[in-house]
Amino acid sequence: MIWAVIPAAGRGSRFGGETPKQYLEIAGRPLIAHALDALLSHPRIAGAMVALSKNDALWPGWANLHGKPVLRCVGGGERADSVLAALQALPVEVGSDTLVLVHDAARPNLRSEDLDRLIAAASAHADGAILGAPVRDTLKRADAAAHIAATEPRERLWRAFTPQAFRRGALTAALEQAQAQGIVVTDEAMAMERVGAHPALVEGREDNLKVTTPADLALARYLISNR
Ligand code: C5P
Repeated sequence: MIWAVIPAAGRGSRFGGETPKQYLEIAGRPLIAHALDALLSHPRIAGAMVALSKNDALWPGWANLHGKPVLRCVGGGERADSVLAALQALPVEVGSDTLVLVHDAARPNLRSEDLDRLIAAASAHADGAILGAPVRDTLKRADAAAHIAATEPRERLWRAFTPQAFRRGALTAALEQAQAQGIVVTDEAMAMERVGAHPALVEGREDNLKVTTPADLALARYLISNR
């Protein structure tokens, strides 16, 4: 049994506009519906826990999708707070060694082949695994005036995507520790790294993009309608 955890409590302030980005629509359905479909249509995933903001008036109220439970809880101020709240709200039968897949609500183009490879890697590696891709651009470090201060070597640098797959107990403990220390982790792997873990990197499809800007939304629309 594997569970999905979806942080969806963000306001999407970088996108602009009134609608939180997880509720922007592609093909008549919100981004979060596409993310849930990709996860819950996978045979190994038993259910999903969605973290929503306290005042969310847009959640469509699904309790079940693809014949599997969709549960919800209230998220927190940072993404990591939302993920921790969701992990703590999972049903008791989701044991400490159960794999959980944390996936951004704003990544609507997740494909089952990536899920297969991520689940295989995380099942085989005690420290878990994440999807990502090697950096392909040349990287520049800027000074305060946005002039180039240095060129950074890109060998062995990866971009981190989601889903990120860890055992429930280990991830909960790692996120609790970061929260107690007041350290904001920007993904789940970072919390695991801080407690000494070395999660596996699984090369995923570059089109598993996170919608952050209007250009991302246009690209995601194109990708999904041409699947
Ligand atoms: O803003 P960003 O793109 O990093 O958000 C990634 C995911 O984390 C989104 O699905 C967003 O809804 C979620 N999030 C959250 N709680 C927050 C901030 C972001 O669940 N406090």
